[in-house]
Amino acid sequence: MKDKNIVWHNHSVSQEMRHRLNDHKPAVIWFTGFSGSGKSTIANHLENELYKLGCHTYLLDGDNVRHGLNRDLGFTHSDRVENIRRMGEVAKLFADAGQIVLTAFISPFKSDRAMVRGLLPEGQFIEVFVDTPLEECEKRDPKGLYKKARAGEIGYFTGISSPYEAPEDPEVAIDTINDSNEQSVARIIDYLREKEITRG
Ligand code: ADX
Repeated sequence: MKDKNIVWHNHSVSQEMRHRLNDHKPAVIWFTGFSGSGKSTIANHLENELYKLGCHTYLLDGDNVRHGLNRDLGFTHSDRVENIRRMGEVAKLFADAGQIVLTAFISPFKSDRAMVRGLLPEGQFIEVFVDTPLEECEKRDPKGLYKKARAGEIGYFTGISSPYEAPEDPEVAIDTINDSNEQSVARIIDYLREKEITRG
């Protein structure tokens, strides 16, 4: 709970001033989808392409952040809510600094994604639904976790023993079965250009 004796400081270098140093606008590109859907892979490819375009980026990845800042969190409902709340706040700070932030979290709950959207100025939150069906993710099982979840060795596993609420109206939906990573990345970049977040 926030203490009532904490006041907000206004600093002299404004958000606008920081943003003007870049040749692009800030944004949070929020990937959501099952474990093994391809979020991290596509986010990684996208960051590479944005780097080539001269964009300042930062990628926040669930598996990595859970080694550090969020190492105290597990996968119960309340821990996932806290995971996304913290990451939303971190993404907001990076966007405030002028970066294009890419995030790769399952982020299974609609209300949490809506909460992060609400933290950011209009147009800065770009929801990218990596729409790979559960059966396909389970078939790919890149980390062997679905197998363990089916065997009851991992609890609260998304899609098996914990729910996933798919976005109804994402800014971009990705089809990893029919499209290559390159095509998926190109679709996101087209979107960013259309919204004049990036140029080039
Ligand atoms: S989230 O639901 O809170 O958004 P997050 O994206 O940070 O999840 O972490 C998901 C990653 O943690 C998965 O890709 C997987 O590698 C690993 N993981 C370990 N246990 C679980 C679990 N019970 N459910 C889902 N993913 C898990």
